[in-house]
Amino acid sequence: MQLSENALKVLEKRYLAKDETGKTIETVDQMFWRVAIHISKADHIYKPDADIQGLAEQFYQMMTNLEFLPNSPTLMNAGRELGQLSACFVLPVEDTMEGIFDAIKNAAIIHKSGGGTGFSFSRLRAKGATVASTGGVASGPISFMRVFNAATEAVKQGGTRRGANMGILRVDHPDILDFIKCKENNEEVTNFNISVAITEAFMDAVETDETYPLIDPKTGVPIGVLKAREVFEQIVHMAWTNGEPGIIFIDRLNRDNPTPQLGSIESTNPCGEQPLLPYESCNLGSINLMRMLKQEGSKRVIDYPKLEETVHLAVHFLDNVIDINCYPLKEIEEMTKSTRKIGLGVMGFADMLIALGIPYNSEEGVKMGEELMAFINTKSKEASMRLAEERGVFPSYPGSIYEKQGVRLRNATTTTIAPTGTISIIAGTSSGIEPLFALSYFRNVMDNDKLVETHPIFEDIARTEGFYNKEIVEKVASQGSAAEIMEIPEKYRNIFVTAHDVSPYWHIRMQAAFQNHVDNAVSKTINFPHHASKEDVHQAYRLAHQWGCKGITIYRDGSREGQVLNIGTIK
Ligand code: CDP
Repeated sequence: MQLSENALKVLEKRYLAKDETGKTIETVDQMFWRVAIHISKADHIYKPDADIQGLAEQFYQMMTNLEFLPNSPTLMNAGRELGQLSACFVLPVEDTMEGIFDAIKNAAIIHKSGGGTGFSFSRLRAKGATVASTGGVASGPISFMRVFNAATEAVKQGGTRRGANMGILRVDHPDILDFIKCKENNEEVTNFNISVAITEAFMDAVETDETYPLIDPKTGVPIGVLKAREVFEQIVHMAWTNGEPGIIFIDRLNRDNPTPQLGSIESTNPCGEQPLLPYESCNLGSINLMRMLKQEGSKRVIDYPKLEETVHLAVHFLDNVIDINCYPLKEIEEMTKSTRKIGLGVMGFADMLIALGIPYNSEEGVKMGEELMAFINTKSKEASMRLAEERGVFPSYPGSIYEKQGVRLRNATTTTIAPTGTISIIAGTSSGIEPLFALSYFRNVMDNDKLVETHPIFEDIARTEGFYNKEIVEKVASQGSAAEIMEIPEKYRNIFVTAHDVSPYWHIRMQAAFQNHVDNAVSKTINFPHHASKEDVHQAYRLAHQWGCKGITIYRDGSREGQVLNIGTIK
C-alpha cells in the first residue's frame, strides 16, 4: 500500500485496534482485513452459501488500493466490540424536560461511538414562555443548546474524536435573533455547527421586502412578525464576521424527502451533507477519483468502466453496513433499517481535475463535476435496484417517492458528498469536492526551522515540466498561490488553483453542479477573501438559492480568531 507519513500517523493514532494499555495490536493491513471480513458477512443474511471470503477479498482490494474508503467509524469499529459504524445521526428534541434530557443522553451514547449528531431545536418553546407544571418561564432553545454543548465537552468520543453536533433553528422560531448571534463569542457552543432553517416563504419575503410571521412552536399560532430583510442581513453579518450560522433550505430538503410518509426532515448531520429524519442514521463512503484514471496515449482520462465497477461494489459494501451495524438505540435501528439510506460520494476531485489539466474554476471544470456525479448517481441507483431484486426494496418503500415512480430501490438515498476530512488524509488526496487548500506550505519544526512541503501532484508536474526548484516552491508557499508566479507557465498557473484563487461564484457553481446529481446534500465551504463585503456574502446566498443548493456555508479568510490553517504556514 502507498500510504503517506501523515496517513500512517492518523491510522496509528485513531484507527488501529489497541489493547487496554493503549498498545497497538494490529497492522494497517490487518485493520483493512478486519473491516472487509466483517462487512462481507452481511451477505450470509440473504444467501447462506454466499462466498464471504471472495467478497471480503474484493472489499479489501478496493480499500487497500485506496479506491474507496468508508467513513471513519466503520474503519475504527467494524469487527470490534463497539461495532458502531455510522458517522451521521439526527435525534429529535421534544418540548419536555424528559425529551430534552433524553436527547442529551442519546447524543452522549452516539458520541462515545464516534458518530456525530444533528438536532433541530425548533420544537422548543420560546424563551420566556410559560411552563404549565411550575408556573415558571421557559429558558428557550439557546439556553438548552449550552447544556448539550457542555455534555458533549465532557464525553470524549471513545478515545477517538470529540463529538460534533449540528444545531438547527427555523427562521420562524420566536428566538431566531438570539440563535443567529449565539456563536458571536467564539468560546460559546464550540461543539456545535449552527444553521438557520430557511423557508421558501421567508426567501420570498426577503425578495419583496416584507415581514414574515414568527410562529409559537407549541400552538402553531403566529405571535409576532419580523422584517425578512433585517433577519437576512443579521445572518449575513454574523456569517461574514464569524463563518456562522450557515443556512439550510428546509423546504427543499423536504421536497426531496424520499419517505414523506414517515415524517418531515428537521435537521442534518454535523457537517450539513446528510439530511435525516429524527432517529435516522446514515453511513457514508467515498470513491477516490484519483484512482479512477487511466492513461490513453499521452493523456490521462477517466476510466468509466472501473468507476462503474467501484460504484457497484461500494453500494454493496454500504448496504451491508446497515445490516451488520451495532446501533446505539433501538429507535435508531428501526428507523435506519426502514429507509436504508446510504451516502456514496467522492474525494480527490480537485486532484483529478489537475491530473486532467482542467481548471477547477472554469466551465469545463463544472461540466466535469456534473458529468461525473451524474454517472455515479445513475450507477449507484442501478446497484441499489439490483440489490432490491436480491434482497427486497427498503421496508418503507410503500408510500415513498420511489413507489410513485415505480423505481424499486434497496436504499431510500444512495449519494452524499461528505467532507472526507480524515479519510482523504488516509487516501492521500484532496478532500471531497473542495479545491486544494495549498500547493506548498511551510511547516514549523523544532528550533523554528521552516520545512517546505509540496503537494505531490504539484511537485510531480513541476518536475516533469521542468519548473521545479526551491525558490519557486518557497515563493508558492509564502504567497499561498501560484497565480502571480510568472516563472510557472500560464497553463499550470490556471490549473493549480487553490481555495483562495477560486472566487465564490465558482465555488457555488461547483456545489450546485454536484447537488444536481446527489440525493442528499453536498459538504462545501464557500471561501471569501478577507476583503469581501457583506454584499458579496448576500449575493452568494442568493446564488446558492437560485442554483438549487440545499444550503450554504461560507468562510471569509481570517475572520475567525485563531484560524488553524494559515496560508503559507502550518503551525
Ligand atoms: O473523513 P471522515 O470519515 O472521518 O469524516 P468526514 O467525511 O470529514 O465527516 C463525515 C461526518 O462524520 C460528518 O458530517 C459528521 O457527521 C461526522 N463527524 C463527526 O461526528 N465528528 C468529527 N470530528 C468529524 C466528522
